[in-house]
Amino acid sequence: MTKSILKTKHVNCPVHGGYESNLLELFDGSEVWTVCPKCDYDQRTSDDPDVRASASARRETLAINEHLMDSDIPPRFRPATLENYRTDLAPGQGAVLARCKAYADDFATNWKMGRSMLLLGTMGTGKTYLGCAIIQKVIRAEGMAGAIARYITASDLIRRVKDTFDRKDISESLVYAQMHQPDLLVIDEVGAQHGTDFERQTLFEVINGRYERNLPTILISNLNLDEIRRFIGDRVIDRLCDAGGEVVLFRWPSVRGDV
Ligand SMILES: Nc1ncnc2c1ncn2[C@@H]1O[C@H](COP(=O)(O)OP(=O)(O)O)[C@@H](O)[C@H]1O
Ligand SMILES: [Mg+2]
Ligand SMILES: [Zn+2]
Repeated sequence: MTKSILKTKHVNCPVHGGYESNLLELFDGSEVWTVCPKCDYDQRTSDDPDVRASASARRETLAINEHLMDSDIPPRFRPATLENYRTDLAPGQGAVLARCKAYADDFATNWKMGRSMLLLGTMGTGKTYLGCAIIQKVIRAEGMAGAIARYITASDLIRRVKDTFDRKDISESLVYAQMHQPDLLVIDEVGAQHGTDFERQTLFEVINGRYERNLPTILISNLNLDEIRRFIGDRVIDRLCDAGGEVVLFRWPSVRGDV
């Protein structure tokens, strides 16, 4: 319960007395006050199976919400799901969606194999949309209860590492540790920056660290495969394509303005 708490108030439960209730922001934009924790416990351990089921469902919903709120999916892409991705705007969208859907549906296997994916194509073709939709699907998937999936842009990642340089309380290794932890990490807008050695090294550190831990990474870029190889190095691309990692090409004009 971190990013989702909007405010807190003291509430009196007629059965258990005072408790702190939190107003939570849900991923869909709605808000909900948390219930009395002792009532919640009583319901979860109730003799009545219906009461038990609804209390567990509430708990499960809040746990998934927490993971969605912690995923850093940009608010603009919260409505982006695999179900509402349009395939009627350009030829090729259906095939690309099918591959992203297959990746997300079988994430349990992809996670075990450490299978990554590259989403490449020009601006406005829906790459960020699908990257975020995959994150959401992985977090919500029943077979992957508790999966942690995160979104970050390459420039944000580089900024976070740089920000630790003039601080005593945290070091760059903490940022790397955070990037090596999620079950799935989506790194967007790779190659949009200048491509200094430092930026390349930072991206290598993250992607290679995840590779060594056998964890999947999805890399998104406006560059084509040759350009991204040149930008980030063959070694990194080979690691991402290892274990059957796929390159998915978005080859149609921008749909910005069509949706
Ligand atoms: N197939 C689609 N269905 C619905 N909206 C889409 C689709 N493709 C792109 N969009 C929308 O078009 C805009 C550009 O997509 P975006 O994912 O940002 O492209 P990219 O990351 O490839 O530059 C966004 O507002 C996105 O929500
Ligand atoms: Mg994008
Ligand atoms: Zn109570």
